[in-house]
Amino acid sequence: MAVFVLPSGFQHLPGHFDRAAQEALVAEIRAVVAAAPLYVPRMPRTGKEMSVRMTNCGDLGWVTDKERGYRYQPTHPETGAPWPPIPSSLLKLWTDDAQFDQPPQACLVNFYDASAKMGLHQDRDEEEFGAPVVSVSLGDDCLFRIGGTERSDPTRSLRLSSGDVVILGGQSRLAFHGVDRIYAGTSTLLKNGGRINLTLRRVTGR
Ligand code: SIN
Ligand code: MN
Repeated sequence: MAVFVLPSGFQHLPGHFDRAAQEALVAEIRAVVAAAPLYVPRMPRTGKEMSVRMTNCGDLGWVTDKERGYRYQPTHPETGAPWPPIPSSLLKLWTDDAQFDQPPQACLVNFYDASAKMGLHQDRDEEEFGAPVVSVSLGDDCLFRIGGTERSDPTRSLRLSSGDVVILGGQSRLAFHGVDRIYAGTSTLLKNGGRINLTLRRVTGR
């Protein structure tokens, strides 16, 4: 039997945010989405639509489109407005758990409906790989997959639930990861169902 050891630096903190904290976060994300509407990201070159809807908060936001591909930029691709600030509860999460001496610059907000998924990928559009990627799950459960630093490395799947935090740091910072499916109806947090994932990143180098 193949043995898969999670890369060191990978952390899963189940139930890190309790229900009240999750509700407060959802209210803050609703305010972010009111200022910076969810948009349909498209793959570089092919222009194929991703199944998640995205927005950001922070000084920089991760965006993708057919013409210019994956990148960080200080403004929303459709409204041209600066991204709203990162909510203080997420800044506190970074201070408490990221073990990195500078604050996050970007918080990507991904919204998954029942049929959305995210293919296996690395987060490598940042200049700073010394900082971890810190992620928060809200709403319906998902099946998250994590592997190694080569696409062909073995992977392991784990279920993420509302309030869970995942940290990709150390050896796992460049680990391939993705979301294979959403388990619809597993959470009552979001009125209309679905899953929100928030990922905090440090973008620029020192
Ligand atoms: C991502 O890799 O950007 C999202 C991961 C997740 O939804 O848990
Ligand atoms: Mn990612």
